[in-house]
Amino acid sequence: MSGHGDAQPMTAHKSGPLRGTASVPGDKSISHRSLIFGAMAVGETKITGLLEGQDVLDTAKAMRAFGATVTQHGPGAWSVQGVGVGGFQEPADVIDCGNSGTGVRLIMGTMATTPITATFTGDASLRKRPMGRVTDPLALFGTQAYGRKGGRLPMTVVGAANPVPVRYALPVASAQVKSAVLLAGLNVPGETVVIEREPTRDHSERMLLGFGATLNVEKTAEGHVITLVGQPELRPQTVAVPRDPSSAAFPVCAALVVEGSDILVPGVSQNLTRNGLYLTLVEMGAEIEFLSPREEGGEPVADLRVRFSGAMQGIEVPEERAPSMIDEYPILSVVAAFSEGRTVMRGVKELRVKESDRIDAMARGLEACGVRIEEDEDTLIVYGMGPGGVPGGAICATHLDHRIAMSFLVCGMAAKAAVSVDDASPIVTSFPIFEGLMAGLGASLSRG
Ligand code: S3P
Repeated sequence: MSGHGDAQPMTAHKSGPLRGTASVPGDKSISHRSLIFGAMAVGETKITGLLEGQDVLDTAKAMRAFGATVTQHGPGAWSVQGVGVGGFQEPADVIDCGNSGTGVRLIMGTMATTPITATFTGDASLRKRPMGRVTDPLALFGTQAYGRKGGRLPMTVVGAANPVPVRYALPVASAQVKSAVLLAGLNVPGETVVIEREPTRDHSERMLLGFGATLNVEKTAEGHVITLVGQPELRPQTVAVPRDPSSAAFPVCAALVVEGSDILVPGVSQNLTRNGLYLTLVEMGAEIEFLSPREEGGEPVADLRVRFSGAMQGIEVPEERAPSMIDEYPILSVVAAFSEGRTVMRGVKELRVKESDRIDAMARGLEACGVRIEEDEDTLIVYGMGPGGVPGGAICATHLDHRIAMSFLVCGMAAKAAVSVDDASPIVTSFPIFEGLMAGLGASLSRG
């Protein structure tokens, strides 16, 4: 598990053209949800294409601890024998969610309206992250939570014995909070309502409908009003997990900045709640073709042909786009460093409470690579140095954050001098085949 073993330094050297096909693993958000919804259904859910990253494996382990039978049949092929809504048993030991904010927050929501008690913990990164954003709305159902100062893990959650339905307007644009409240609402009589001002990833809503829940989404002046009818019997499903657009971002952006590259990235989600990075790259002048648009695993997808794009132009990323690309700002800031002019990212303070403070981690690392940065609490501005123009030659700190590690390794593939990361081990949380996949395209990576 990341953060528990020895640090694994890794170095990316200036690389030749990247060529070939980059088949990235399954979507992390949908993988967590397929295990959790499978555990809430009555009968056997079959999953293919599951991301076997550490975050998802930790959720699988947690589902077993709550009484579901979770079995691996082959690479990416899993089944979950669910216990039904309200059927969770009390775990015999602490639930360790490792590095995963999504895992811990969704699971807290799922058990919050069942009269059992569970204690949650995680690695050094997860233990710094705020859980109050989930336990505050869960308290409205009657759930109690006792954590460390600032709502930090380890935390004990006491599920509500007689939960009451809740109407909750999200104070932050967060799919994790939205999903935690909806999952809690599953075991509550009556209607649970979540209102989100800005749309965030909608996988929970899509999957709840797929598993047979009654859910309605109304677009109003206050935003999306999501109404869930409680205590359904969820029907087991066959889930084909589509590839992860957030993982695809790394080979895509590497090909854009490494001279001479021309790669194909099949099956990248075009879900409007996830595709903000791709819109932004196209606006910057990236050469991306969206081929064979189709539906896979209930998500709109396309095959992306991506070529080295020469001089891309920095832009002001529209603030309202942030929720649809929240995990992609680190890699966008690397593309920005190889573009011309300023790239301005505003309204991004949520980045400060991710696996690391991603504004700070990117700012310090890019500065060490010779890039001019401006930042404030809610903003990151990167001054581009043009194609091949980033000096590099730095060792960047990754702070137990997989996306920071992969972003700086991509930076090193195109910079003048090699870029190292102090610890590449967190990459296993979301993209365990990153090193082999990038090397297969022609990237020059070395251990140490
Ligand atoms: C996720 C939601 C996002 C995202 C995370 C996955 C999800 O977090 O950053 O990687 O699967 O719901 P927030 O809900 O905190 O924005």
